[in-house]
Amino acid sequence: MAAKADMEKIVSLCKRRGFIFPSSEIYGGLSSCWDYGPIGVELKRNVKEAWWRAIVLERDDVVGLDTAIMMHPRVWAASGHIDSFTDPLVECKSCHLRWRADAVEGTKCPKCGGELTEPRMFNMMFKTFMGPVEEEASIVYLRPETAQGIFVNFENVVTTSRKKLPLGIAQIGKSFRNEITPGNFIFRTREFEHMELEFFVKPGTDKDWLDYWVKERFDWYVKLGIKKENLRVRQHGKDELAHYAKDCYDIEYLFPMGWAELEGIANRGDFDLTQHSKHSGKDLSYYDAEAGQKYIPYVIEPSAGVDRSVLAFLADAYDEEEVQGEKRTVLHLHPFLAPIKVAVLPLSRNEKLVPLAKEVFKRLCSTFVTDYDDSQSIGRRYRRQDEIGTPYCVTIDFESLEDRQVTIRDRDTLAQIRVPIEHLEKVLEAKLKGEAFDASPLWATRQK
Ligand code: GAP
Repeated sequence: MAAKADMEKIVSLCKRRGFIFPSSEIYGGLSSCWDYGPIGVELKRNVKEAWWRAIVLERDDVVGLDTAIMMHPRVWAASGHIDSFTDPLVECKSCHLRWRADAVEGTKCPKCGGELTEPRMFNMMFKTFMGPVEEEASIVYLRPETAQGIFVNFENVVTTSRKKLPLGIAQIGKSFRNEITPGNFIFRTREFEHMELEFFVKPGTDKDWLDYWVKERFDWYVKLGIKKENLRVRQHGKDELAHYAKDCYDIEYLFPMGWAELEGIANRGDFDLTQHSKHSGKDLSYYDAEAGQKYIPYVIEPSAGVDRSVLAFLADAYDEEEVQGEKRTVLHLHPFLAPIKVAVLPLSRNEKLVPLAKEVFKRLCSTFVTDYDDSQSIGRRYRRQDEIGTPYCVTIDFESLEDRQVTIRDRDTLAQIRVPIEHLEKVLEAKLKGEAFDASPLWATRQK
């Protein structure tokens, strides 16, 4: 089954409604770099918040961390990234375009049909220089994963948090990869955000914890509204495993361009802590008081991309429907993810309506991310809110001036209820938490 939304439509909606813009657009854009606009930044923040809540705040066996993007260059020698974080690259001898060898079939350039060179390994880490002198000794790398910041702080965190294993350390932050073939909008970019958990466990319990985290992470996407039939789990073949992994499962999503990795959940074994122990000379083993044993913990790593998750949530929520003979585009985003929760819409810019509408906006904006819009017809304003996935619109009309009641309209069912202004926060809070939208509820006190 193909995904409903095609990529062009999503990219166009993102531009039109202020989710995502091409980076440096007035200079012609910069390949594979994107900027999040006023609506997109809220969506992205909500994705990260949902992850942080589920992984850190709602558990007592995970703590958070925020480490520097630039790290000691020896970290990357120890982690194996200097030697092994490579992709095979081929170059066209005619047009000089470069391709990932494993993405090209045969020996001809997919663009011009020219002859391709033999593959050579290309390291994907971005290099820069620290300080004013550009010399070999001052090379630093932009991290290609946030995980290493966690491994090198393992001892700091264990000592200061006074937690026992199993213990997770979570981090959200930017990563950089000099991808040979970025593309598909924000699916593969050279700068992106990671949401990574390194879950340290006793060796021997790692297989069970791997199964546990695959299920947890799958359920997280479903809980946030992704349709189950658009998700699947695929185990890596031995030839696909990253240099550090003993085993790995991808959660794949049916993106507009087909099934592709959304998140990887790897069993990194004791690879990283062993390597850092060797290279730093610092013993990173853990003393398990209960077992009376010292060992290097194994690590289960659910690693997700913020931007790739944003794309999956957008694609899954995207819908085009016919309403009363008119086409509407709507994002059925989960209320937690919706960039704007409530839009306050006076029926018109009539001078009598505006003060009450502003009063309602003021009431709501400290509790919910609220938009105020009084431009154009009410129908067009509803469409605009539908397109950015706003779950509820609150309309103020002339009757509101007399009975101090307003109409709440549901994005998905289009049902409307009339609610006294004084109960608005309570009703919206309940609806946003998932209470059914009943069009004939207690609150519909309007007398006709
Ligand atoms: N620390 C392990 C790790 O980084 P990965 O499979 O390379 O594993 C994990 O990346 C996730 O990060 C991917 O499933 C994807 O969601 C995201 N990701 C990786 N490379 C990306 C890129 N170039 N652009 C956007 N997201 C990316």
